[in-house]
Amino acid sequence: MDRIIIKGGTPLRGSVRISGAKNASLPLLAAGLLCEGTYQLNNIPDLADIHSMIELLKQHGCNVIYQNNMITMDAMNIVNTTAPYDLVRRMRASILVLGPLVGRFGKARVSLPGGCAIGTRPVDIHIQGLQKLGAHIELTEGYIHATAPNGLVGATIAMPVISVTATENLMMAAVLAKGETILVNAAREPEIIDLATALIAMGAHISGAGTDRIMIQGVSQLNGATHTVVSDRIEAATYAIAAIITRGELNLMHTSLDLIPTVSAALESAGAIITPHDTGFTVKATDTPIQGIDVMTEPFPGFATDIQAQMMALMTLCEGASMITETIFENRFMHVPELCRMGANITVHGSSALVRGVPYLSGAPVMATDLRASVSLVLAGLAARGETILNRVYHLDRGYETLEEKLRNCGAHIERRTITTYEAE
Ligand code: EPZ
Repeated sequence: MDRIIIKGGTPLRGSVRISGAKNASLPLLAAGLLCEGTYQLNNIPDLADIHSMIELLKQHGCNVIYQNNMITMDAMNIVNTTAPYDLVRRMRASILVLGPLVGRFGKARVSLPGGCAIGTRPVDIHIQGLQKLGAHIELTEGYIHATAPNGLVGATIAMPVISVTATENLMMAAVLAKGETILVNAAREPEIIDLATALIAMGAHISGAGTDRIMIQGVSQLNGATHTVVSDRIEAATYAIAAIITRGELNLMHTSLDLIPTVSAALESAGAIITPHDTGFTVKATDTPIQGIDVMTEPFPGFATDIQAQMMALMTLCEGASMITETIFENRFMHVPELCRMGANITVHGSSALVRGVPYLSGAPVMATDLRASVSLVLAGLAARGETILNRVYHLDRGYETLEEKLRNCGAHIERRTITTYEAE
């Protein structure tokens, strides 16, 4: 068990190389099940979730080599089309093997992922979409049993809710289906575009990725390809907020402001000077106090829900107040009580949190509960007076590559300590 100790109060100054996107890498890895040939992915971040997905692909029979942020894999000898509960429950994005397995092999037995800390996380849209493509689905013993013995057939699928992984799963299921598939009300996240780009490199016929209407013409086979994973926009926004909350200045490289249009506008309103350059952008805190601004999370290009907790950390120190409304997930305010332990003044009313600015935060022992809540506590600790001890840092390791190292290189006083189970109690 590890914990992270932060001594706050130092303005961050320096450069950060933003890693490849976790939420692009996971569907891109699952897409490797579709192709008959060698598939290479560059700029894959070294994260716990990536290793979980690799473990899942290997038990399907994939050969996977992962070194120096590069993955070389093939799915020439798939031995089973079952994604077992003990792997899926560890990482719910494992559901992304469902579409490729049914699409290429005509069958799949994938554990229902169940809920998680931030919500019930249903997969009904994934299932209904596959049924529209002709798959027969049974839900028994906690598993999704999907079969399409004669292959999938293209269809128009109007998704009732904008869902990122449902869009990805159904796009991957459709690329080998007979005929045309149209995904209506599709998610528009940059990770969807990245997945479509890789599938097209394999030989898929896809148009409209990045819009709410994606058209896929089925082909008979996909071949190997090479693809470089898009920059992690959530990580980039997290470090941008780190610069502002510590009143410092950071140069974020290997990324782009185009990936966070609404978030960067919000940060400028809160009190940042953001300057794009050819490999990313710089973020400098203004000399004026942080301005309280209202935020509502929405599907891309709206304000990303994965940045809500980090923005709330910033708003705890604002001049005035900020209303933060979470519209995507039903339980994504678990960082609130922990921020309040550090002196924040936050009141939750249903899906909205009213954040009244306080002059300073005080370091304290705090508990990470999910990936993005945990990093919001790191941001608060970087700005707080005194020492913050963050427990359960395994949440962080799921989504932030070499977090302490990147922050230490910019002047942060942050270290990781391994503790005994006894100490952790
Ligand atoms: C993806 O999750 C991301 N994960 C999440 O990031 C992100 O928060 C989320 O999209 C929203 O942007 C990956 O890409 C691996 P959704 P996903 O399906 O696809 C409802 C992180 O921190 N819904 O877009 O699971 C759902 O309940 C993680 O990196 C259904 O009702 O999210 C939610 O209210 C957390 N039925 C809304 O749609 C379904 O079948 C959006 O969820 C599917 C979703």
